Amino acid sequence: MMYDVIVIGGGIAGLMAAIEAKTDNNRVAVMTKGNIFKSNSALASGGINAVLDADDSVAIEQHINDTLIGAYGLGDKKTISYMCYRAPKMIEKLVNMGVKFDRDEHGNILQRSFGGGRSKRTCFIGDKTGAEITQVLIKNANDKGIKFLVNNFAMNLTTLDHKISGIVALRRSDSSVIVYPAKSVILAGGGYAGIYRGYSTNAQDYTGDLLAIGLRMGLHLKDMEFVQFHPTGFVKTNYLVSEAARGEGGYLINGDGKRFVDELGARDIVARSIMNQIENGKEVFLDLRHLPKEIIETKLPALYKTAYMQAGIDISQELLPIKPVAHYTMGGIETYMVKTDIEGLFACGECASNGVHGANRLGGNSLLEGMVFGEMAGQKALAHSKTKDFLPIDYRNVIKDIKLVDHIFSSDTTKNFNAMRISLGKVMFDNVGIQRDEQGLIKAYDYISYLRSEVPTLHCVNKERTNNVELIAILELRNALEIAEAVILSALKRHESRGSHYRKDFPQSNDNEQQNIMVKELSKGQLRVWFKENQLLYKIRKWFSNN
Ligand code: FUM
Repeated sequence: MMYDVIVIGGGIAGLMAAIEAKTDNNRVAVMTKGNIFKSNSALASGGINAVLDADDSVAIEQHINDTLIGAYGLGDKKTISYMCYRAPKMIEKLVNMGVKFDRDEHGNILQRSFGGGRSKRTCFIGDKTGAEITQVLIKNANDKGIKFLVNNFAMNLTTLDHKISGIVALRRSDSSVIVYPAKSVILAGGGYAGIYRGYSTNAQDYTGDLLAIGLRMGLHLKDMEFVQFHPTGFVKTNYLVSEAARGEGGYLINGDGKRFVDELGARDIVARSIMNQIENGKEVFLDLRHLPKEIIETKLPALYKTAYMQAGIDISQELLPIKPVAHYTMGGIETYMVKTDIEGLFACGECASNGVHGANRLGGNSLLEGMVFGEMAGQKALAHSKTKDFLPIDYRNVIKDIKLVDHIFSSDTTKNFNAMRISLGKVMFDNVGIQRDEQGLIKAYDYISYLRSEVPTLHCVNKERTNNVELIAILELRNALEIAEAVILSALKRHESRGSHYRKDFPQSNDNEQQNIMVKELSKGQLRVWFKENQLLYKIRKWFSNN
């Protein structure tokens, strides 16, 4: 089947993009590798940031400034300003689509505090904001006639003369490799925090597949070293304890019963403080016992229920043990206002790096970013598809993917790829986690290199082609290893601490490194990593050093 626009990814950015791209006269599809209801957007429970009054430029400028401060010198002011000024419209759009934000007795949308924000600007629906928004978007997309291509694992893109021509995907139901021609393609398939398997709020299949495809297509990845650890996850299950809990007045206390950090500081600072407590042998708890039970029941209902179900804890009366968990990845495919270097290919949401988050993201800005740049990607993809024809498919690339699938089925394996995925998560957390140093990074690099050398020898034990989960696990592992290497090499390159990237051996920021780190695949498996000099900063620095 041919589509004018195909969006890969069914989170808030992808759904919004598809809705914007759909008209009565075109065909638009959303491709997801699994169930459409499962996405990281659906897990972003605490809320979406926006100044509600579009005329309140003082408040909007403050939102811009908070975001810039959170980005630690690597935020792109133009892109951030666009996002923050667009925010009031986004909330209005969501309301018109049917999202029922929590309101006060006068009918005004309620807003809560979130870390790194100087005012209450996070709109919410209890602590299930992301899930409610995505459900509404799915319904709207369905009503508009958008086709859902679920259980299709994107393997690669096809291009002709650097212009997009389609997608090569693995249809999971029968393991066949299918080509989907498209005039425009939007990448919106999420980030790579799932490579920290066992230490992440993300599902394990958030392996950065689209970023790995980007590398194979010759695109640049940017800011890969910046991995955000959310301060609060359940100790045993990594379930996300929304920042809403602290926004509603919850405390963080250590085993001595003492508060040790501003609970609403930036995530990197709070996560590091918690980790320091844990490394000093102290447990850390979320304390909500002082909050009225009604607040817990109405503002944090999902946490209230899940804490009881997963940890057997009544948070209105007991302390909840927590730990930091990999949650969001600031790195991604380099884009400028959703455009990539390939004509007709756009990227938005977590898989894209467009400069709005820089070295650290403010809580509540990810849903906003998804909405704003999903909207923009949909509009640009629509405009592009209106003026272009379908391009011929280069079947040499398709054949490569067919051969890869046949190869994975072709032989018996002696390797336990599930164990490899688990150990990848542990090695990444231990050595490329909240605090890093050269020794640990090199250890991780050596281990990943070893795992990468094993990749060609990975085969399915089960040779059944119907819904073969092993096949997908192997394809994901291949991507995860490439992305892990990009993260490690970028982290090794940055000899300073900035935002979510903290080097124990370089604990200060270094002005000379206030630049993005880029990654490109030179030849198969060979990555080049370099600083992209920000020309403006370069000139300013030069001016100061000469005067
Ligand atoms: O804590 C949270 O509810 C997460 C929100 C976010 O990552 O933006």
